[in-house]
Amino acid sequence: MSIVHGANIFEISTKLKIEKNNILDFSSNINPFGGSLKAKRVLKKNIDMVSLYPDVEYKKLKDAISLYAECNKENIILGSGATELISTYISTIKPRSAILLSPVYSEYEEELEKIECKIHKFYYKKKNDFKIDIEELNSYIKEIKPELIIICNPNNPTGTTIKKSEIENILKKYNEEMIFSCGKKGNIMIDETYIEFTDLKIYSSVDLVRTYNNIFIIRGTSKFFSTPGIRLGYGILGKSEEFEKMKNSSNLWNINICATIMGEVMFKDVDYIEESKKKIRRNFDILRKKMKNISEIKVYDSKSNFILCEILENKKTSEELYKFMLKNGIIIRDASSFFKTDKNFFRVCILGRKENLKLINKLEEFFE
Ligand SMILES: Cc1ncc(COP(=O)(O)O)c(C=O)c1O
Repeated sequence: MSIVHGANIFEISTKLKIEKNNILDFSSNINPFGGSLKAKRVLKKNIDMVSLYPDVEYKKLKDAISLYAECNKENIILGSGATELISTYISTIKPRSAILLSPVYSEYEEELEKIECKIHKFYYKKKNDFKIDIEELNSYIKEIKPELIIICNPNNPTGTTIKKSEIENILKKYNEEMIFSCGKKGNIMIDETYIEFTDLKIYSSVDLVRTYNNIFIIRGTSKFFSTPGIRLGYGILGKSEEFEKMKNSSNLWNINICATIMGEVMFKDVDYIEESKKKIRRNFDILRKKMKNISEIKVYDSKSNFILCEILENKKTSEELYKFMLKNGIIIRDASSFFKTDKNFFRVCILGRKENLKLINKLEEFFE
C-alpha cells in the first residue's frame, strides 16, 4: 500500500474488508465535521445542472472567492484542486533551480523533477522543533539565487507556520538580491492549503499580491471545506507574464459544475466557517493535550489540524505503529517518507471527540 500520499481509503477498505465509513482516517487532514450543509443542499436541488456546461468565465464562483479571500477577482486562477495549480505554476515558470523548504508535501518535488529543475532543500530542523530561522533562510537564498522558492504554510507535515510579515521580509530581500545579481526577479509559491486552521490575519500572504507580482498563493477546498471529491482550488497572483501564460494554458471548463455550485455557496457560508473553526480548535486542543500525556512520544507544536509526533522509544517504529493501527481500522500517516533517516515520525489529524479518544486508547495500548 502506498504511503507517499494520504491513505487511499478505497484500496484499504477492499484489502481489510472494512466498510469505508467504519475506517477512521487520521491521515488525510480533512475537516471531520463535513462540508457546508447549505452548499450540499443547493447542489442536491440543482443536480440536474450536470447536463449543462459551467459558465466558462466562472463569474459567480470568482465573485464568491474574491469576497472570501479578500482579493481582486482579476487575480484569481481556478484549478482542479491545489494539485493542478502546483503543477500548472511550476510548468509555466519552468525554474532551473528552486529552494524547497523541507520536509514537505511530496508533490512539489515530483513536479520540479518533471522539468529537471535543480532542487535545493532548506530544512525545518528537528533541533529547532521544526521552526524556521528566517535569517538563515535569507542567507541561503542569497547564496543559491533560486528562480523559485516554495513554501507550504502551514507546513505539511510539521504544522509549523511562517508569518506574513516574515514572508514579506524574505520576498523583499529575495527581490533585491535577484535584481542586483541576475537583473530579474524570481518567484515565490506559497501553498496555503491549510491556512484556514490558523489565524489568517497573521499567516496568510494573500494581501502581498497587491504589492508584489511574483508571489503565487495556492489554496484548496479539500481540507478545511471538507470537499476533496469536488477538486476545487484557486490561485492568487498579480498581473504578470506568468498570470497571462497560466490563464491562456488552462483548459476550458476545467472546474466542473458540482464544484462551481458548491463553491458559490460555501465560501459565503459564514456560520459554517466560524462554527467549523471553533469545533476544530476545541477538538484539536483536547487531542493534543491527551497525546502529550503519552510519555513514549514527543508531540510537536502545530498551527494546523494535524500533529507531527515522534516515537521516543527506539525499539518501536512508525511503520509498526501504522500496521498496528490499520489492524484496528485506524489510518495514521507513517511520516518516515518525509525524513531521510528517522523512521519514528507519524502524523495524525483531528477527527471527532469519540474517534480521537479511540486513537488515544489505541496509542496507549501500542506502547503498553
Ligand atoms: C500541502 C498540500 N497541498 C496540496 C494538497 C492537495 O490538495 P488538493 O486536494 O486541493 O489538490 C495536499 C493534500 O494533502 C497538501 O497536503
